[in-house]
Amino acid sequence: MKKLFIKTYGCQMNFYDSDHMSNLLKDSGYTVSEEVKEADLVILNTCHIRDKAAEKVYSDLGRIKKVYENNHLRKPIIAVTGCVAQAEGKEITKRSPWVDLVVGPQAYTDLPKLIEKIKQKPDHKQINLKFPEVPKFDLLNFKSKKSKVSDFITIQEGCDKFCSFCVVPFTRGPEYSRSKKSILEEIKIMAKKGVKEVVLLGQNVNAWKDSSDEKKHFSLGSLIQEIADIDTILSIRYTTSHPLDMDLDLIKAHKYVDKLMPYLHLPIQSGSDKILRKMNRRHTTNQYLKIIELVKRYREDIAISSDFIIGHPDETEDDHKKTLAVIDEVKFSSSYSFVYSERPGTKSSELNNNVDDKTKKKRLYEIQKRLSYFQLDFNRKMENLIFPILITDKNKNNQLVGRSPYNQSVYINEHNLPTKYNNVELIGKMMNIKIEVANQNSLLGTLIDYA
Ligand code: SAH
Ligand code: SF4
Ligand code: F3S
Repeated sequence: MKKLFIKTYGCQMNFYDSDHMSNLLKDSGYTVSEEVKEADLVILNTCHIRDKAAEKVYSDLGRIKKVYENNHLRKPIIAVTGCVAQAEGKEITKRSPWVDLVVGPQAYTDLPKLIEKIKQKPDHKQINLKFPEVPKFDLLNFKSKKSKVSDFITIQEGCDKFCSFCVVPFTRGPEYSRSKKSILEEIKIMAKKGVKEVVLLGQNVNAWKDSSDEKKHFSLGSLIQEIADIDTILSIRYTTSHPLDMDLDLIKAHKYVDKLMPYLHLPIQSGSDKILRKMNRRHTTNQYLKIIELVKRYREDIAISSDFIIGHPDETEDDHKKTLAVIDEVKFSSSYSFVYSERPGTKSSELNNNVDDKTKKKRLYEIQKRLSYFQLDFNRKMENLIFPILITDKNKNNQLVGRSPYNQSVYINEHNLPTKYNNVELIGKMMNIKIEVANQNSLLGTLIDYA
């Protein structure tokens, strides 16, 4: 068997794509290896969202070259896929001429064919950045893909919203929803293989509409209901949602569908209406708060998380204070916050009034301090509560791991576990866990009983 080394950067959709790439290449005789040294094929599945993510790819490409050169190994075939591939195309092969293939996120089903071409003509770079007529989802083989107890499935991809700071509409292309039929087919296969939790993915997952329903009335809330009807699927999560696409169907699903976990990742990016306008987010802070209020009317205990961009051009101290005020108001259970990164080709990159690095860092520190405070506060509310928790994995210390309904990582104490099983056999079981200790980023619990 030939060996494939694959490294994934960026969002969960990229991880989903990497799993499918490895699966596609199995049929061409490649098995996955953790070692660059033994690889016949190297794939870097890349992310272009911030400058640092994209630059990391080039430093990794340099490191990979050193591995085979310093060890006098035969050069592996090297492919760059994902969002840097789509954004930079041929430029990659100019900057790193040892790259053989550049393949965009919608074209990777072509990889086996392109690899064959490289083998025949090693000096001929292969570049495919097409958005094919037949969507990639219709060409994937769900049956042979390996699955985990909690696994991802992309149901929506691309974006038409063009927020001024963001590269995604350029790298992933226009908004596309998979058909309900294709999604349910993949989930049913996943369920047969032992998947108990599905995480529905999309750049704007709640923009999903059934593409086979001409009136496009069939939206995420009703899809979730149909997934919940699959007996062996015990838990459903979804991410990332956009405030403009929050409809009542989805909000109601949080009340009526028991298997849907009470967690909503709804990025606001900034608490200042002026900055939201410059970002082209097309909603105000107040409209965002109204959505949260409505969601909580249907599901009082729901955990809300968000993304923030700190130091977008023209952000003043007053705008920054408004973001802090939104954090105080919503009391997010967790969040991601990033310093604004200027991206080529975006509208924001044309704005002049950039915030200096020192101010950005100061503001990021203040935002993260406030977010951490509310996260720990939220985590502490879990102490002494008992939750049914699906055991999804074990960590390096052989400790069992799952997620609370509110999406917190939960580590399970060793002492109460049934001795007739080893830990691996407990993965996939639903256990009632009493939370004993709340930490900043996780919870520690003890088994009460299990099914
Ligand atoms: N579709 C989602 C976000 C997907 S991108 C939404 O609209 O909310 C994931 C996150 O990356 C964004 O929420 C944003 O916080 C961050 N991000 C995107 N572009 C960025 C940039 N240029 N600089 C810093 N962070 C950025
Ligand atoms: Fe990027 Fe905005 Fe689309 Fe989200 S909605 S992916 S931030 S352009
Ligand atoms: Fe990155 Fe592309 Fe995802 S830019 S965040 S890998 S959609």
